Amino acid sequence: MPASRIAGTGRYLPAEVLTNEALARRVDTSDEWIRTRTGILQRHIAAADEATSDLALHASREAIAAAGMQPSDIDLIVLATATPDMIFPSTACILQDKLGIRNGGAALDVGAVCSGFVYALAIADKMVASGAARNALVVGAEIYSRILDWNDRGTCVLFGDGAGAVVLLPSDAPGIVTSHLHADGSHRGILCVPGHVHNGQVTGTPYLHMDGSAVFKFAVKVLADVAHEALAAADLPAERIDWVIPHQANIRIMDATMKKLYLPHERLVVTVDLHGNTSAASIPMALDVAVRDGRIRKGQHVMMLGVGGGFTWGSVLVKW
Ligand code: UT7
Repeated sequence: MPASRIAGTGRYLPAEVLTNEALARRVDTSDEWIRTRTGILQRHIAAADEATSDLALHASREAIAAAGMQPSDIDLIVLATATPDMIFPSTACILQDKLGIRNGGAALDVGAVCSGFVYALAIADKMVASGAARNALVVGAEIYSRILDWNDRGTCVLFGDGAGAVVLLPSDAPGIVTSHLHADGSHRGILCVPGHVHNGQVTGTPYLHMDGSAVFKFAVKVLADVAHEALAAADLPAERIDWVIPHQANIRIMDATMKKLYLPHERLVVTVDLHGNTSAASIPMALDVAVRDGRIRKGQHVMMLGVGGGFTWGSVLVKW
């Protein structure tokens, strides 16, 4: 059966590090509160002259090199972001140009917020497996520091900037075993940036708004549900999952999901401590870390789980 497989991974974090202690000097919070409630120790902040496409470019170059390819080999770019460079063109088209690809294949953005990478990977998998594309670049890239109200301690401590990427190639055997995507727009109010441009003005707040505890409860429920959906489709018991890579939002959400799957904490890939919630970038960044440090090995099963504004959620099960 035609399928796709991940052939290379990459990641990029901007140079500036903002620690919990430094944040506590700006807003009424503490390192202890942030650490115990979220597991976050620090986040990275993009430089003023860095765009989302620049973060994506660094991560993409790494992933393409790891796959032993050249940018000119890429004939599909699917880029997940909620913080695009501009309203249009898509950040994927800007990335394509920065990679030096001319007269290339399709390049598109996916807007599924923190589920964006799982959505993008599922879309690219279908295109590669069907033969519509050969060598796909799938990216999650975000600059949330620009949509945060830095006076709102309830949100500004949680997020950070970064990018992660993978290269997806055709394969005789999966690879990507199964993927499952969901959305329920009736929950859009609990996590949103309602502002939009109207007659040259921003109408509504351009800052991230979140009902933290509603998001928390929703996330724990749907992450476990969509993991079970993938296991059922693959006819695989949960204990055969070697690594779970959930969206890196909050260590307590990740631990609660592992409990619901009856899997030990040791099989969880955690990088949220190092970069906070980087939305669509968090899963490919965590994947890259676990691939490069040798934790993920050939033949193992990796479960990626996304959840985010929309609300959207999804799973991608990979046999490495
Ligand atoms: O990609 C998905 C994006 N979103 C998320 O993943 C967020 C999901 N939600 C969460 O991670 C958690 O709900 C939070 C970390 C946001 C909050 O944790 P919590 O245990 O649900 O705390 P809480 O909302 O119940 O707030 C407890 C207290 C409140 O004070 P009072 O009303 O009890 O006096 C807050 O005002 O903590 C206060 N608080 C803070 N205190 C110090 C809220 N933010 C802060 C802060 N520092 N940064």
